[in-house]
Amino acid sequence: MTHFLDIHKTDPADLRSMIDSAVTMKQARQGRPKGTLDQDQALAGRIVAMIFEKPSTRTRVSFDVGVRQMGGQTMMLSGNDMQLGHGETIADSARVLSRYVDMIMIRTFDESVLSEMAEYADVPVINGLTDRTHPCQIMADIMTFEEHRGPIAGKKVVWTGDGNNVCASFLHAAGQFGFDLTFTGPAHLDPEDEFVALARSKGSNVVIERDAFKAVEGADLVVADTWVSMHDAQSARERRHNMLRPYQVNEKLMAAAKPDALFMHCLPAHREEEVSSEVMDGPQSVIFDEAENRLHAQKAIMRWCLGL
Ligand code: CP
Ligand code: NVA
Repeated sequence: MTHFLDIHKTDPADLRSMIDSAVTMKQARQGRPKGTLDQDQALAGRIVAMIFEKPSTRTRVSFDVGVRQMGGQTMMLSGNDMQLGHGETIADSARVLSRYVDMIMIRTFDESVLSEMAEYADVPVINGLTDRTHPCQIMADIMTFEEHRGPIAGKKVVWTGDGNNVCASFLHAAGQFGFDLTFTGPAHLDPEDEFVALARSKGSNVVIERDAFKAVEGADLVVADTWVSMHDAQSARERRHNMLRPYQVNEKLMAAAKPDALFMHCLPAHREEEVSSEVMDGPQSVIFDEAENRLHAQKAIMRWCLGL
């Protein structure tokens, strides 16, 4: 079974072919209404179930539209409305869903839910975000960077703020796509050692730098994300904000990066917290291209999972 669980668990050549396929599909749709079918209708006759145990705008809509454009059908399930949220085991849920649908996309809290789903499902399972990683987002981000600036290999990416799930997938991608990553944030919110070590073991130069201005020197890409993720306790909000304020991405910080550095944010963003509106809406920002490319990248991921 070909699951898309994490970037470091997927062969680099396969990751590259997914990006190429996403670019081709995007180009083929230029100027066509969003609801028209792709010419080859790769998912005709297939049903994709999507389980959301956390809120979502981009993941929900882009997967749904992507399946429809490829001629397939979708089913949206919320964890709470399923027996999964009321005591049925993940393994049993996976076996049952596999009898009805051709693929499962799941957004959940603990990554053990994802791995158990993948272990027991007879159909491909896709990670739509866990507390620990967000691989679909980073596939779209790699595609976006390369659309604007060419190959990402050898470039310097700077992650600002919390070493969270999206940061983890960027570290995985650093190892697989061959770029360097500098993390800048408070020590309390460093990315997990395991993720840093893995990227380093694959030759990526991973640097931890507490000074945000030093960190962004020579950066080709500066990335921010929310300071409080969906899985974080709301009670930690004020403490996190106090720790993270020096890491806000604003025009002053962007000015310390390379003049042609891009700015990315997976969204949803909290304007004037992790990033200023000037940067979000400024010429270096590619945030809405990232959001659009979720659609194209995930279509490529689904095709790869189904061997299409
Ligand atoms: N970036 C992202 O995954 O957004 P959603 O939470 O809206 O799906
Ligand atoms: N780090 C954020 C990403 C949202 C897409 C979260 O997990 O809430």
